[in-house]
Amino acid sequence: MKIYKAVILIIFFVIAGISWIGRNNMSERTHLLKFVVPEGWPQPVYDFKNNPLTEEGFQLGRKLFYDGRLSKDGNFPCASCHQQFAAFATYDHSLSHGFHNSLTRRNAPGLFNMAWQKEFMWDGGINHLDLQPLAPISDTMEMAENINDVIQKLRSDEEYRKMFKAAFGDEIINTQRMTKALSQFVLMMVSNNSKYDRVMRGEDSFNLPQKLGYDIFKQKCASCHAEPLFTDLSYRNTGFPVDSFLMDYGRMKITRNAGDSLKFKVPSLRNAQVTFPYSHDGRMFSLLSMMDHYRKSVVKSPTTDSLVKNGIKLSNFEIGQLTAFIYTLTDSVLLRDTRFAPPGYEKRTQQAPAEHQHIYKQ
Ligand code: HEC
Ligand code: HEC
Repeated sequence: MKIYKAVILIIFFVIAGISWIGRNNMSERTHLLKFVVPEGWPQPVYDFKNNPLTEEGFQLGRKLFYDGRLSKDGNFPCASCHQQFAAFATYDHSLSHGFHNSLTRRNAPGLFNMAWQKEFMWDGGINHLDLQPLAPISDTMEMAENINDVIQKLRSDEEYRKMFKAAFGDEIINTQRMTKALSQFVLMMVSNNSKYDRVMRGEDSFNLPQKLGYDIFKQKCASCHAEPLFTDLSYRNTGFPVDSFLMDYGRMKITRNAGDSLKFKVPSLRNAQVTFPYSHDGRMFSLLSMMDHYRKSVVKSPTTDSLVKNGIKLSNFEIGQLTAFIYTLTDSVLLRDTRFAPPGYEKRTQQAPAEHQHIYKQ
């Protein structure tokens, strides 16, 4: 009888011990983040299996995105050119400023819905999001830093050692882990909460100019700026002559094929209200000037797209209506989402001042 009790007691302790160890392991595990594909959207192309999203990885990416130490002189974090209130483009700059105040060669695009892109940059020269940060970090006109020096800086920081451990299980800090964490942060920037999206979900309705603008958009613009991403991600020449200083021939630089001369990736029109100036080198300062280009100044060359080579017919009225529609693509939820603000932002301010809260509300 005594032996029987002792055995039960031992079994009890063994089970309690196992569950205690199990619980301990659980608390050290990372917290998976869910990537929600908006209803009716295509499946993302990013392979999340190779880089599962976790809260810890996301927070590490966020810290890196806002950390000037990724650049040579400490002044140019990713966020210096990718500003949240401009949908992560550079606000009001045709070209962005980088190291030694040099100018980038292209206009910084907004960053959102990156999980659906196979190729990056205006010419598609980078074919994986995880490789993308290496370009600005080493570009002498952008962050001008050597990747090994960046990794050394991170390794010598105790906070980073802790965060890498939390995100990846141990304190090893290398380029691959750094870029994966940055990808996690950028991937979560999904833009699907504009008025347009609410209308599509049946939660809101367009006013008359917006509705007329949407009809014109579907006829004259949607073949390239295709819904729901507002880009078909193809490369097209829309008849901008080459800038004689920048000499940027776009896609041709990557493919070395003359047929790709002056072709650039079709940019998304989501958030276009706040990503001005426009085009690959930011030469267009307003939506009006952009549309004026389509109707008046398309330059014909052998690679000019057949959809625009004879100009797109647009009346002043139609331009007004199109503008009203494009404004419905502004996603004020993304622009104000504190998850994407600098680390610690939530603690410093509870809410934006009232006068800043409704500027983009349509
Ligand atoms: C000095 C300004 C500057 C800095 C700093 C910078 N970028 Fe960029 N970014 C740009 C410009 C300009 C482009 C477009 C370049 C091109 O098309 O050749 C771009 C393009 C991108 C793209 C591709 C977007 C698309 O739609 O193809 C991503 C993603 C990106 N940057 C993320 C980052 C990350 C992450 C960092 C920090 C490691 C960073 N950027 C730092 C200016 C900058
Ligand atoms: C043939 C395909 C095509 C058609 C049709 C087209 N676009 Fe574009 N759009 C592009 C490409 C490509 C660019 C980038 C051009 C560049 O930078 O050289 C662009 C750029 C833009 C931009 C600048 C966005 C930015 O972030 O820089 C706006 C705004 C725009 N288009 C609006 C429109 C509107 C409105 C229409 C319909 C009236 C339209 N587009 C029709 C392909 C097209």
